[in-house]
Amino acid sequence: MDERPDQRRTRRVTRRHILGSGSLAVAAALGLGYRSTKRPETEFLDLPLPGLPAEAAGTTIAVLSDTHVGRFATPDDVERGVELANQANPHLVLLLGDYCYGLGERTQSAFDDAIRPFARLRATYGVVAIPGNHDYWDGIDRVRVAFNRVGIPLLTNQRYMVSIPGGELAIVGLDDLWEGERQVDRAFEGIPAGMPRITLSHNPDRFVYERHRDLSLMLAGHTHGGQIILPGVGPLYVPCRYGWRYPMGHFRAGRNQLYVSRGLNCTIIPLRIHCPPEVTVITLAAPGDVSPEAA
Ligand SMILES: [Fe+2]
Repeated sequence: MDERPDQRRTRRVTRRHILGSGSLAVAAALGLGYRSTKRPETEFLDLPLPGLPAEAAGTTIAVLSDTHVGRFATPDDVERGVELANQANPHLVLLLGDYCYGLGERTQSAFDDAIRPFARLRATYGVVAIPGNHDYWDGIDRVRVAFNRVGIPLLTNQRYMVSIPGGELAIVGLDDLWEGERQVDRAFEGIPAGMPRITLSHNPDRFVYERHRDLSLMLAGHTHGGQIILPGVGPLYVPCRYGWRYPMGHFRAGRNQLYVSRGLNCTIIPLRIHCPPEVTVITLAAPGDVSPEAA
């Protein structure tokens, strides 16, 4: 059937309208999902830890990751995370790497500025850190000096023993998967079987590569939760091999558990969509002490 010119124009206009309103809907969905790095949110969760003495149930751990001071974030952006962590009155604070972004050409004082906010963390059993890939890319020696200056141990395939009610808790800090040394055996050496442990790995891929070990509870960052999440699709980009499987949140595989933090700040672009910055507060339960939903 022949169309009159005005009918064709009407159809073109209609298609354009539909496309336009579709784009607007996507833009609106993304716009509504905008999350400022100035407003981190606290994720609270209860997790059972095998071997934890009943007397130590309720031990609270605050986790900060991917603070990335430099190109996009300032030390003030880290201070907000530190405040939220302190508000939880944690027994222990664990820092999961990537403290800088684009500081490679800068002097030691820029690294000191990036790490100094952690000096305000308050925790009964102390604060422990591991490095991430960006810390190596920007200057691991300067990161190490900065941590020394605030008195926080930076673990690289080492462990940190914590005396808890009824026993000890081993914090196993792995070096960065991409840039660090690979002696993972050294980190676990000498930890008695059955001793409660928390394994720290910046990159969650280690949850797969080291699955033959008793990792117990592994805490990771690195993914930023994808940073940009498209509604109905998922994270736009996750920079590691198994990141699509483990972009954020809590997972189990056999006897091991993994929790992946969305982290605090950004890399590549200073934007978070449907992916708020996170401070994590974990309350440990003795096995059998936690409801199935919480586990
Ligand atoms: Fe990161």
